[in-house]
Amino acid sequence: MPFKRKHLIGLEDLTPEEIKSLLDTAEAFKSISNRQVKKVPSLRGRTVVNLFFENSTRTRTSFELAAKRLSADVINFSVSTSSVSKGETLIDTARTIEALESDMVVVRHSCSGVPLLLSNVLRSSIINAGDGMHEHPTQGLLDMLTIRDKKKKIEGLKVVISGDIAHSRVARSNIYGLTKMGAKVTLVGPPTLLPKDIDRLDVKVENDLRHAVKDADVIYMLRIQLERQKRSLFPSIREYSMFFGLDESVLKLAKPDAMVMHPGPMNRGVEISPEVADCKQSVINDQVTNGIAARMAVLFLLAGGEANEIAAYGG
Ligand code: CP
Repeated sequence: MPFKRKHLIGLEDLTPEEIKSLLDTAEAFKSISNRQVKKVPSLRGRTVVNLFFENSTRTRTSFELAAKRLSADVINFSVSTSSVSKGETLIDTARTIEALESDMVVVRHSCSGVPLLLSNVLRSSIINAGDGMHEHPTQGLLDMLTIRDKKKKIEGLKVVISGDIAHSRVARSNIYGLTKMGAKVTLVGPPTLLPKDIDRLDVKVENDLRHAVKDADVIYMLRIQLERQKRSLFPSIREYSMFFGLDESVLKLAKPDAMVMHPGPMNRGVEISPEVADCKQSVINDQVTNGIAARMAVLFLLAGGEANEIAAYGG
């Protein structure tokens, strides 16, 4: 089934066929991104608004680049210079943005549920660029695109996700996406950093990273989200790093072709050592690059684009 939706709020409610359609479309946009002229006219005349209420380096810039490569007009809305700081409500701010005739709104917010709320009150397509501890669907898509590119499949792979799973929207989107695509997902972390609803997720749980990495195809490290923790959930960063950090001695226990991933921003020396972050098995920079094609695919398909249109552009 092709992807025919107005909004992208999360991967939880997508079918495997819809995810495959998004990944196949992203693959076609990757080949366009490798050309000298990287632009196609698909979104000419449309306006994409980046509405970021939380900081971002990778997601905001790659959405901007993705929209520009599709020839859309792009507005970057910065909360720090807006009237939000004067007490304007979220919905009034969003309605003001839409009065500028936006077609698509890419939203990041520290509160889970904001993209869903906006999809109920605005006419524009809403794309979730990360909401609280809920989901970060385009990160999940770019991660699956990176895995599929390197391993030529997702089904049957063992993916170890290690770190602060409880507070991670990246982990949640990857768990939903990867399990739907047939990967075997193992979560690793101290019990206090594992999600409370773990029983309803189709995953295994381990507390020993050294054991978990042994037969892993993908090792996905997560940052500790101190900004979302209300109290101390482990004794010290130093102890956390000793038990749950990925350094060369732990990576040596894994298969030589195991991929190392991280969504960024990284805390080098905490969850991942600098040597591992920069090693040959690390695909962290590929993840960032693939973010452009994944986000082009999302914008293109939500705007009603068809696969044969990309073929006509040579993708
Ligand atoms: N991975 C990710 O969401 O990074 P940014 O916070 O820099 O967008």
